[in-house]
Amino acid sequence: MDRFIVTIDGPAGSGKSTIAKLLAERDGFVHINSGAVYRALAFALGESVDEERIKGLDLELRIENSSIVVYIDGRDVTGKLIGENVGKVASKVAKLGFVRDYVNERVRELAKNGKFVIDGRDCGSVIFPYADVKIFLDADLKERARRRSLETGEDFNEVLKVIEKRDKQDRERDIAPLVKPQGAYEVDTTGKGIEEVYEEVKDIIRRVYDNRNR
Ligand code: C5P
Repeated sequence: MDRFIVTIDGPAGSGKSTIAKLLAERDGFVHINSGAVYRALAFALGESVDEERIKGLDLELRIENSSIVVYIDGRDVTGKLIGENVGKVASKVAKLGFVRDYVNERVRELAKNGKFVIDGRDCGSVIFPYADVKIFLDADLKERARRRSLETGEDFNEVLKVIEKRDKQDRERDIAPLVKPQGAYEVDTTGKGIEEVYEEVKDIIRRVYDNRNR
């Protein structure tokens, strides 16, 4: 098998990246966080993105230690992309068709040969509709805000407000809205620990993999 693709979609704070990282650390997957590419555009260009400015951008995506590292003008900016300030702008620019086409192409060109876990909002519905395994993670809003604020160090109430708005924007946009992709396995992570969710997801992947090779 030269390519095996697992997609994980879901709203902010549902645990997508955490679980994808574990699959990369423990199970030999390469993790591609598609949100990082939207965040990189938002970080570099702000809300005033246009096709010319994207073309003129020196944005390099490298896979290092099984995950994506973002370089702008030759400098590693990956650490600057976390946080709700960049997330908020990312969600605004993610409504634009030419931005989505650009990100999809960059993500697809990274995931050529090997085992990949790709997380985002439309990975199973649009970027890889023929993925081998599709997962949809969800959780109660307050719990998601709590996780996000622990992760980024930002104020809980502030994060709650911002992700509520961001999720609404992501769910209601015209192009590639956040949906549970057709054929996806849904896992509700509310009240569950990381290891429990990891085992559940791992089990789904194992079942599909075993069925395929039977
Ligand atoms: O996953 P993350 O929070 O880093 O994503 C930031 C934003 O990028 C999301 O709120 C969403 O608007 C956008 N995004 C998207 N499609 C993806 C991944 C992220 O629209 N596949």
